[in-house]
Amino acid sequence: MANALLELRDVEVAFTIGKRTYPALQQITFQVGEKETVGIVGESGCGKSLTSLSVMGLLPETAAMTGGGILLNGKPMEPASRDGWSAVRGKQVSMIFQNPMSALNPLMPVGKQIAEMAMAHLSVSKQEAKRLATDMMAKVGLSRVERLYEDYPHLLSGGMMQRIMIAMALICTPKLLIADEPTTALDVTIQAQILDLLREMNRSTGTSILFISHDLGVIREVCDRVIVMYAGYIVEDAPLEELLDHPKHPYTAGLLQSLPSADKRGGPLYTIPGRVPSIADRRSGCPFAGRCPSVSDLCESTTPELRQTAAHHRVRCHLYADGGMAL
Ligand SMILES: Nc1ncnc2c1ncn2[C@@H]1O[C@H](COP(=O)(O)OP(=O)(O)O)[C@@H](O)[C@H]1O
Ligand SMILES: [Mg+2]
Repeated sequence: MANALLELRDVEVAFTIGKRTYPALQQITFQVGEKETVGIVGESGCGKSLTSLSVMGLLPETAAMTGGGILLNGKPMEPASRDGWSAVRGKQVSMIFQNPMSALNPLMPVGKQIAEMAMAHLSVSKQEAKRLATDMMAKVGLSRVERLYEDYPHLLSGGMMQRIMIAMALICTPKLLIADEPTTALDVTIQAQILDLLREMNRSTGTSILFISHDLGVIREVCDRVIVMYAGYIVEDAPLEELLDHPKHPYTAGLLQSLPSADKRGGPLYTIPGRVPSIADRRSGCPFAGRCPSVSDLCESTTPELRQTAAHHRVRCHLYADGGMAL
């Protein structure tokens, strides 16, 4: 990709708990292009949120980036410089979370919170900020925005609050929006509306989206390309259609098999046996070895590399090594 908007190169993140260090993200290398929508999928505990928090410079106190680098528009971001981050946050990269209530100030009218974001990052007057805020509220599908502007968060439904968060995230026309499980707390009808809205915003404003979800069914509604994470590693990265039609990694195949579909209706849903190892429980070898139906001795002893298998397809699995076994 010639001009990646966001690039992570070999990012490593580790927690320090007491005297011990636990790697939580390893060898995270990927890019997000301009106007692209990239999904990160994987079960809970695979490192999706830590990946997005690394980009935002918002890792928990006990975690640190222990290696690699993050580039925005080709320029390295210094994780040590919090000032560097806050200039970028909101203006160039913004983020929405699963639970908008925890991100909104309960004591300030919602419209004002959007306007304050505009005032913090754009040199606009109070009146202009209010106009931008109400325009953006209408754009994200909220109605009666003049009145809603004055309402406090607790008066809004979950879907409305998530729209307010999206308006707040987009008010400064960021280049990249990171959405971490933005619809997980919403019921399916509202979820579909929010996914439509994000897709529409990507088309109309060209904002790239890094969309994170444990649910491949949701990812496939929004993303052009999908990165699959398992136990702190990227295990596969491919364009959506290719990933759905020709998954390579056994973990991706398992996630696909667990998706509900019309022909499986009424039947029991498949779940991958076992669970994601905690950061204290990770061993050498392939991170997925303990749950993989195609496991071999090599998988137990050696961590596979993330290999390019086609122009836009990478996979971390010994089955796809040169001269390796075929499925
Ligand atoms: N504050 C924390 N302290 C200790 N471990 C954590 C903390 N936050 C996350 N982890 C661990 O890091 C791993 C990745 O977490 P996370 O990125 O939140 O996963 P995901 O978003 O994919 O569910 C998990 O094993 C999780 O238990
Ligand atoms: Mg998460």
